[in-house]
Parts: sequence; C-alpha cells; structure tokens
Amino acid sequence: MSANLKYVSLGILVFQTTSLVLTMRYSRTLKEEGPRYLSSTAVVVAELLKIMACILLVYKDSKCSLRALNRVLHDEILNKPMETLKLAIPSGIYTLQNNLLYVALSNLDAATYQVTYQLKILTTALFSVSMLSKKLGVYQWLSLVILMTGVAFVQWPSDSQLDSKELSAGSQFVGLMAVLTACFSSGFAGVYFEKILKETKQSVWIRNIQLGFFGSIFGLMGVYIYDGELVSKNGFFQGYNRLTWIVVVLQALGGLVIAAVIKYADNILKGFATSLSIILSTLISYFWLQDFVPTRVSLCRQAGVLWRDLGLLQPPTPWFKGFSCLSL
Ligand code: C5P
Repeated sequence: MSANLKYVSLGILVFQTTSLVLTMRYSRTLKEEGPRYLSSTAVVVAELLKIMACILLVYKDSKCSLRALNRVLHDEILNKPMETLKLAIPSGIYTLQNNLLYVALSNLDAATYQVTYQLKILTTALFSVSMLSKKLGVYQWLSLVILMTGVAFVQWPSDSQLDSKELSAGSQFVGLMAVLTACFSSGFAGVYFEKILKETKQSVWIRNIQLGFFGSIFGLMGVYIYDGELVSKNGFFQGYNRLTWIVVVLQALGGLVIAAVIKYADNILKGFATSLSIILSTLISYFWLQDFVPTRVSLCRQAGVLWRDLGLLQPPTPWFKGFSCLSL
C-alpha cells in the first residue's frame, strides 16, 4: 500500500510540475489587457486553497463527520501550539527562499539561475545524510552528480536563446549568493519537513495545514510590503483570469503532492521526479519550439539507471520499470 502511494505520489508530482511549467510558459506568451496579476497575492491564494484541500482530506479521514473534524483540528492544532510552531521554521525558510529566488532572477540571467539552482539536488542529499542519517553509497553520490549535470545541461540555453542582458560583476555576485543560499534553504527546509513527518505520528494533511497557516501569514506580510499600494488601488484579485486560476490551483496541488512525496518517498526521489518533469516539459516544448538536444537527456537517464541498479532495496512495480530514474 505504502509502496503504491510512493509511486502514485511521484507520478502525480511529475504530472503536476510538467503542467505547471508548461502553463506558466504559455501564460507568459499571452498578451493581456489591463493590469497583470500580482504574484504575491497568488502565493497567498495558493496557500489558502492548500489549507482548504487539506481540511477536506482530514474531513474524509474523520469518516465525513463534522464533529470529528472539529475535534481533530482542535486537538492536533490548537491544543498543541508547540507542535504547530515547529512548522513556522520550514514555512519561514520557504518564504525566504521564494524571495531569494526573486533576488537571484533580478540579478542573474535566467539560464545561470536555472543551472545553478540544480545544486539543490546535492544539498538535499547532504542534509538527508546529516539530519536523517540516510546512507548513500559512492555510486549513489555519483548518480546525483550526473543527474545534477544532466538537468543543468537540459536547461542550458542554445545560442539563439541567450539574452543579451548586461549585468555588472557586483550584481552577478549578489544573484549567485542568493541562488546558492536558496539551494541550502531548499535542502534544509525539505529535509526538516521530512524529519517532522517521519518522526511524529500526526497526519501529513494536518502538518500541511500548519505549514499553510504560517505560509499564509508570511505571504500576507509579503503582499503588504511589496504590493500594499497596488492592492489598495486595484484590489487583491487584480488581473486574475482563467489562466491565473489554473496556475494557482496547480501551485496548490504542488504543495499537496510535494508533502505526500516527502511522506511516502523522500526528498532525494522528489529531486529525481522534478528532474524527470524538466525533461518531459523540454520534450513537449520540442514539438512546438524544435529546440532539444537528446544527449543531455541521456545523461539524466544514465543517473537514473545508476541509482536503480546500485540502490535497489525493493523491486519496482513492473509498469514503473520504464521510468528507471524513479525506481529506488
Ligand atoms: O525548490 P524546492 O523543491 O525547495 O521548492 C519547494 C516548494 O514547495 C516551495 O516553494 C514550498 O513553498 C513548496 N512546498 C509546499 N508544501 C510543502 C512543502 C513544500 O507548498 N509541504
């Protein structure tokens, strides 16, 4: 049962990340009239949707009884303030991370940003080893390095894609520091959340409500600081259209799926799944943009084969064998 949940959650993560990347790319090419939506408000809306979805899931787990739901929420969240407060740490770090990535993108070109951010595959492994006492063999480390290189290559722009953004050395340094710090925060927050999920008995959905609660508070602070004036002038939902809602729902779904993946698989496999979705979205956009270099994808596949052959603890389900990079 739990092995099934592991592969199902990893599969949904690949689907969710791929559709989010493609929808965001598509939304950027659309010409819209009127004001654009504010990303700071989209973060808050996604957190609120995530909380609502988790409450529904807890309701289902409470045999659809409102009274039982009320009791669980009271007992597990309100009456355990110290347990709830634990989630302020990853939530605060994720908020900081989202801001760091914004600083990085403003000071680096998109390609350097994307390629450097892949270092989070290694920082996640480092934190998994130090905080969760996971053991990785030499070939598993090697496979992570190959995966990181492969994904970096997949994202490397072709000459025609290189933009001629002029950036000073100082600004590049700030951008690089921001993205490197985000690599560490991504590894730490993910593994910290995994430690909480695996070392305590509370359900993953309760944990996600706690995470979303702090996420909404930090997010609202972000709206006030960055876009307070615009919101008071044009409203919270300015510029929202059907596509914005699709992106927001996909983002909320991402939070749910990431939590399930961390619970039933782990952060390292999450890295493999998101890498697979980077390759998938590259493949899909190849059919539209005719821009794709197969050797780069082979590198990622090689990483997956190495990981599977040397780290195999339990046989993968037969239909999953094709996706060798997910079959630890
Ligand atoms: O780049 P990285 O994989 O660290 O990004 C993880 C993202 O997933 C963050 O933006 C974080 O807000 C989100 N997340 C979530 N719910 C969780 C865990 C992570 O929304 N339970």
